[in-house]
Amino acid sequence: MANRLNFYTAGESHGRQLTAVLTGLPAGLPVDVSRVDSELARRQGGYGRGRRMQIEGDCALITSGIRHGRALGTPLALSIENRDWPNWEQEMSVTPPAPEFVSQRTVSVPRPGHADLAGAAKFGHRDMRNVLERASARQTAASVAVGAICRQLLEQFDIEVVSCVVNIAGIRAAGGLRSDEQFWTRVENSDVRCGDEEAAQRMREAIDEAARKGDTVGGEFEVYARGLPPGLGSTAMWQERLDSRLAAAVMGIPAIKSVEIGLGKAVADRPGSQVHDPIAVDRSNRRWPFVRPTNNAGGIEGGISNGEPIVVRAAMKPIPTLTQPLPSVKLPDLEPQPAHAERSDVCAVPAASVVGEAMVIFVLAQAMREKFGGDSLEDMKAAWTSYWQRLQELWQQGEEV
Ligand SMILES: Cc1cc2nc3c(=O)[nH]c(=O)nc-3n(C[C@H](O)[C@H](O)[C@H](O)COP(=O)(O)O)c2cc1C
Repeated sequence: MANRLNFYTAGESHGRQLTAVLTGLPAGLPVDVSRVDSELARRQGGYGRGRRMQIEGDCALITSGIRHGRALGTPLALSIENRDWPNWEQEMSVTPPAPEFVSQRTVSVPRPGHADLAGAAKFGHRDMRNVLERASARQTAASVAVGAICRQLLEQFDIEVVSCVVNIAGIRAAGGLRSDEQFWTRVENSDVRCGDEEAAQRMREAIDEAARKGDTVGGEFEVYARGLPPGLGSTAMWQERLDSRLAAAVMGIPAIKSVEIGLGKAVADRPGSQVHDPIAVDRSNRRWPFVRPTNNAGGIEGGISNGEPIVVRAAMKPIPTLTQPLPSVKLPDLEPQPAHAERSDVCAVPAASVVGEAMVIFVLAQAMREKFGGDSLEDMKAAWTSYWQRLQELWQQGEEV
């Protein structure tokens, strides 16, 4: 379906380029392509990233789907070149290499925690580079580029999506600051994307300590979406629930091992009276006169957005490539050996938080396209206006009863 928002990505970590194809943007959407590169820079930053991030300096080339700064309503294609390609041209050549070529980068000792062993079994590869090249989180750059475009669609409806790191290596940021705008400025200026400066300093120390020991660390980030209308997603089918879609999209980021909405797993420990958000009324807001003093539901009830901010929290495991590698075995002779080691991040939680933001943006933009449809931005805005009118009439009828 032409107006179903969707995207595919392709590209190996050390291949020539990453490619993304995004379908379903409404015609007429103004798109500032320079904002794609600034989002890519946000993903590449962060304390604890490897040297590759300095080489990359990602920038996207959009080759279709936009004309004179506006979406055409046709597939948008973009590519992100690998700046390190000259060093990998032979290794990653699409055509068979010259007969005298001997690979220097074969991977034969799988890394615990990475896709190497399971992927070798699945695809039948003897050289596990054939697995890790796509399992690598390099592909998340393409998702971030797509998110940068979809963000501009959400902005047309005053919907904002932000993220921050709340835990690295068990060092937790103080809670309760999120409604303070300065908190978000501090997050954007922080190399660990943490708005609690005291915790941020201890996070950096934990990353340094792990690096010294040849180890790695994980953590948690939160994504907030503000300004959403009630009614995105559906109770009708499990696949349509907004919470299941957000969970799948964020869990699909490499190394993410848990995704929570709102209170998340803490709901299991509390009675209902301390979990569910009371409903109060503010008659001065005719468009949406409902007030929730708490947001433990994280903006979703019954798989549908309820008008409150959406809160998604995800936990990332430590990076599997260790410079002090764990025990493993060489394939195919099964000789015990330390796992393969290559240039790698010590901590990528700040980057994962930017990727998480992009995936949440994509799911919300997709849900907005479903609800408000249309082929052009104008169609979509007309449907948006009429939806709010309908809601308002619903409450007014209630007053008359
Ligand atoms: C932004 C980001 C950067 C990452 N950087 C690395 C890295 O440098 N080295 C590494 O071994 N894993 C890295 N990972 C994690 C691996 O991609 C991931 O653990 C691996 O693909 C196996 O998937 P799984 O952890 O979901 O099982 C990174 C993940 C993300 C989200």
